[in-house]
Amino acid sequence: MPAVCRKARVEDVELLYQMIQGYAEQGIMLPRSRKVLKRQIEEFVVAEFGGIVVGCGSLCQLGSDLVEIRSLGIAEDFKGKGIGSMLVDSLIAEARRREIPKVMALTYEVSFFIKNGFSVVEKEIFPEKVWTDCIHCKKRHACDEIAVLRVLD
Ligand SMILES: CC(C)(COP(=O)(O)OP(=O)(O)OC[C@H]1O[C@@H](n2cnc3c(N)ncnc32)[C@H](O)[C@@H]1OP(=O)(O)O)[C@@H](O)C(=O)NCCC(=O)NCCS
Repeated sequence: MPAVCRKARVEDVELLYQMIQGYAEQGIMLPRSRKVLKRQIEEFVVAEFGGIVVGCGSLCQLGSDLVEIRSLGIAEDFKGKGIGSMLVDSLIAEARRREIPKVMALTYEVSFFIKNGFSVVEKEIFPEKVWTDCIHCKKRHACDEIAVLRVLD
């Protein structure tokens, strides 16, 4: 049975919260409150496997030509099955629909993003807006995440 991607719905908020919180506690994702998730639910996509949500990701618009992939995560038992790439494809399709040519992410999963057509870039090339979320991050003064970018053709 293949996994499928769909837009997230308000009913998914609790599951999204739990999944993101799990990764936030490991220091690999920024936490998102239920309130924020509810407000931003339109920006989220989820992956379902057998009717169960096993992954999520979101797109945050940072300017007229730039979006950021955020909160991309796959449930532990479902990693390595192509579901993360499927979510990235779906977020990239959304960026194309919005005619936004640049998609970036801040990540520790560099090889995964490279396999998905991204390149490593200097963080300094991005505008100030990229860093507004970092105020919520424990590592903001010593950020070791890598910036990756894919320019859509
Ligand atoms: C990173 C993550 C989203 C990848 O999702 P996934 O469903 O496991 O990845 P896929 O199965 O689609 O993998 C696609 C390719 O990337 C490779 N890949 C995946 N994770 C990798 C890793 N950690 N290191 C190296 N390669 C990796 C896979 O081997 C695969 O290569 P292939 O096409 O040659 O087989 C998932 O591992 C995850 O949830 N990680 C924790 C949260 C996180 O760090 N998210 C990123 C925040 S920006």
